[in-house]
Amino acid sequence: MKIQKPVIIGNWKLNGNKKSIHDMFIPLTDFIINNSIHNTIIILPPNLYLDYIYKIIYQKNIVLGSQNIDLNCSGAFTGETSILMLKDIGIKYVLLGHSERRKNHHEDDMLVAKKFQLIKKFNCIPILCIGENKNEKLKNKTKIIIQKQLDLIFNLCGDNAFDRSIIAYEPIWSIGTGIIPDPEYINNIHQYIKNYINKIKIVNHSEHTNTLFIYGGSVNEKNIKIILKEQDVDGVLIGGAALQYNTFSTIIKLSQLH
Ligand code: 13P
Repeated sequence: MKIQKPVIIGNWKLNGNKKSIHDMFIPLTDFIINNSIHNTIIILPPNLYLDYIYKIIYQKNIVLGSQNIDLNCSGAFTGETSILMLKDIGIKYVLLGHSERRKNHHEDDMLVAKKFQLIKKFNCIPILCIGENKNEKLKNKTKIIIQKQLDLIFNLCGDNAFDRSIIAYEPIWSIGTGIIPDPEYINNIHQYIKNYINKIKIVNHSEHTNTLFIYGGSVNEKNIKIILKEQDVDGVLIGGAALQYNTFSTIIKLSQLH
């Protein structure tokens, strides 16, 4: 996994069309070249547009990923996307465990763990979202929730599960609200996740390798610098602010300067 930090990931969710794709990607590729941007930029558009965008940015400096896959690789599963299909069109990064899928599609920790296992099996790179809701935060349960979200993956995939992976800490109460936690709080949770993963691996006398720890939730051009200043933040996962060329390119530029 050759990712240049800080990694900037834009999750388009259910947004975008051919026009916004042209308005965004053609200037963005120019912007990245003209400003000598060398950190890794990953965009997660709706799956339907992946191949279309892939052709526009072929051999350019933007990487594409999928927002979701099915657990099945082929067969009678109407409406789903298979990891084999993604690989077929050159996609390596897959988002999973996003709170919107957990909530709206009833994806539980076990399903997320199985998807994680599948992504690793096919040598792709998971971008795993974890994090607590508001109630859990108020009850001081953040670390317990996170541990539970990680444990099933460890059980299924072994001690090295998180090698070559991206873990996105996305507190649900921050997504789309304009509110972010204190940057020190973000760093503290990242440290906790890192230590937890390392503690399990220490049994095997190995350190986590190629695991990136990124933050998501209301990231924008005003707060990007203070978030990236934190030592254990390797990048960000952005929703709303990744949809407009101006905002997103400003964020990318500022991410170089932190
Ligand atoms: P916002 O940046 O719109 O809060 O969304 C964050 C997110 O859910 C990214 O996956």
